[in-house]
Amino acid sequence: MPRPDLSAEQLAVYERIEHTREHIFVTGRAGTGKSTILNHLAWNTSKIIAVCAPTGVAALNVGGQTIHSLLRLPTGIIADHDLDQPSELKKMLASIDTLVIDEISMVSADLMDAIDRSLRLARGKKHDPFGGAQIIMFGDPFQLPPVPPRDPHERAYFADTYRSLWFFDARVWQTTPLSVIELTEVHRQRDDRFKQILGAVRFGVVTEDQAEELNGAGARPAPRDVITLATTNATVNRINSERLAEIGGSALKAVAEINGEFRENSYPADEILELKPGAQVMFLRNDPDGRWVNGTIGTVSRIDGTVWVEVDRPGDDPEEFEVEPTTWERFRYRYDPETKKLEKEVVAEFEQFPLRLAWAVTIHKSQGHTYDAAAIDLGPRAFSAGQTYVALSRVRSLDGLYLKRPLQPRDVIVDPNVVRFIRERSAKERPAG
Ligand SMILES: Nc1ncnc2c1ncn2[C@@H]1O[C@H](COP(=O)(O)OP(=O)(O)OP(=O)(O)O)[C@@H](O)[C@H]1O
Ligand SMILES: [Mg+2]
Repeated sequence: MPRPDLSAEQLAVYERIEHTREHIFVTGRAGTGKSTILNHLAWNTSKIIAVCAPTGVAALNVGGQTIHSLLRLPTGIIADHDLDQPSELKKMLASIDTLVIDEISMVSADLMDAIDRSLRLARGKKHDPFGGAQIIMFGDPFQLPPVPPRDPHERAYFADTYRSLWFFDARVWQTTPLSVIELTEVHRQRDDRFKQILGAVRFGVVTEDQAEELNGAGARPAPRDVITLATTNATVNRINSERLAEIGGSALKAVAEINGEFRENSYPADEILELKPGAQVMFLRNDPDGRWVNGTIGTVSRIDGTVWVEVDRPGDDPEEFEVEPTTWERFRYRYDPETKKLEKEVVAEFEQFPLRLAWAVTIHKSQGHTYDAAAIDLGPRAFSAGQTYVALSRVRSLDGLYLKRPLQPRDVIVDPNVVRFIRERSAKERPAG
């Protein structure tokens, strides 16, 4: 993440987190700077915080660990199963002031309640929500939702226990005050008209005029180097391997070096990465020297021991960078009783070039990213709530938007539970009269 100066609105959120013990859900449209505030918090807070996220990839992005590994929770539905807490885990959880959770929209109600129970148990405060720890959550529920359980028994348990899958329907929030702060200023896009249209897609209230404008702007063939955002892995893999095959010659096969335990589905990059000169790639990490960020797109210019990538600079000459393999570290928080400090220790490492083929990526993987231009391929139809909104809101302007086919009303799916939550919250915060 680049680290821009916080706006007044963003700074106010940071200050409120820093100077209160409230539980806060920081939400707002795509591009309002939620991740930017989280980063600022991680660098500047004087509280003892632990940062976590529901998925391995999201956790690596914010230098935290997954919720499951932080709290040592069992996989699957947790319900009221016994929680096994070794004493060093208890000490670690007892030492924190604040638990920060990113991408909260992907956390289920069951997991939210397990976080509550685990903190109460570890901190020895059975009657205090979250055992007295402050909970700060970042996310936008109009983007991708929690993945529903596949097992029919688990689905039935959810249906009987919770109003919906969403974290906000967890039992703990029925009795615990939660402040919701909605950021209003979008930083990713500038054009007011485009922002308005995106807002309408988010709520599923697109007017005919707006649909026409969006489809009109997007109805043109995408230049060959523009990234495709597609709904399925199958489409993405097909596009990437077709395009790689179109380039003659043999490919460099870079094999990742993996130490310690890394679950296969949480690899931060391909285990076997195939590259050729001419391949379009995306960077998967921020460069410490600021030459590229997570999401920057470039072209492999040469391969000679290391890999060279050329990146276009808007209004400037392209620049060529030597890219070396990098190491992703999976952390675990550990409490050190001697120093009375919360230490982060590395428990696993994954070494690979911070690159992936990028003629196409899934909309799921594009969540959180910013692109100058993108071609959106919804296939026969969008199939998940928030999917079309996530895709459209990745680009900075309508000039950068290309649509494989015109959007249809059925592509815009809004989960009614989210609308209900937002309505109830606004009614609470702005009482009538
Ligand atoms: N105060 C700011 N000044 C300038 N640019 C900013 C500011 N805040 C955020 N940005 C930029 O806006 C873009 C979106 O910010 P960020 O990714 O933090 O938003 P987000 O709310 O997390 O979005 P999403 O919901 O898509 O994850 C980034 O390119 C970021 O650098
Ligand atoms: Mg974000």
